[in-house]
Amino acid sequence: MAEIVIVPDAEAAGDLAARAIVALIERRGDAVLGLATGSTPLPVYRALAERAAGLDLARVRGFALDEYVGLDPAHPESYRSVIRREVIEPLGLTPELVRTPPADDPDLQTAGERYDAEIRAAGGVDVQLLGIGTDGHIGFNEPGSSFASRTRVKTLTRQTRADNARFFDDPEEVPRHCLTQGLGTILEARHLVLLAFGEGKAEAVRGAVEGPVTAMLPASAIQLHPHVTVLVDEAAASRLELAEYYRDTYAGKPAWQGI
Ligand code: F6R
Repeated sequence: MAEIVIVPDAEAAGDLAARAIVALIERRGDAVLGLATGSTPLPVYRALAERAAGLDLARVRGFALDEYVGLDPAHPESYRSVIRREVIEPLGLTPELVRTPPADDPDLQTAGERYDAEIRAAGGVDVQLLGIGTDGHIGFNEPGSSFASRTRVKTLTRQTRADNARFFDDPEEVPRHCLTQGLGTILEARHLVLLAFGEGKAEAVRGAVEGPVTAMLPASAIQLHPHVTVLVDEAAASRLELAEYYRDTYAGKPAWQGI
């Protein structure tokens, strides 16, 4: 079972995840981070910038989960721009070592395959940060996605486009397609850290953690992974049937163990 940690707020979750990432980088200076975009991972990146202040991150590598198709890579909301602004610059990573899926590649048909090959050549992802969509997606693997899927082009659901409209001036500007790591790709990372905050995520979190494993709720794929940490605030945890058990388990865990 995944480890579920219910924290008071997003800052506490960010701090826990950042601590685990710092410990990883202290062990391996060329660690491979799986990077999510959107609002959810921002507290992790902020905490990481503080906690990693004395660390040399120049050899750390990174792979983003997804990228919009049909959006100019120079657009401020392209995930390439977001990763540069929120991750590479504040952490002082080496830009060439941090990749986003090449959604502007003229050969989109094979671009995903090449991205997966890059991840493999880097030795695979050590820690994969994940947010969760209100419709249960991880990456942009929308409901119905195969658990064996690899990085490929997907169509965003109306719900995801509406959820992401807040990042754009005009809701019509939200791209309809993306190039996203597949569920099969994501499941190959050695440690998955899924974060969720707020009431709006509570139902998706319940399904991911306690519901049946089903392509209708792609995040339920995390139940198939041997090392998963789910960091949720009280609101996102509010529909969890076993919340008391998760609290007892975490309270009894030795501090040195980490996540
Ligand atoms: C982003 C991604 C998505 C988001 C999800 C939640 O790279 O892969 O799965 O994590 O849409 O988005 P936020 O965090 O903005 O609520």
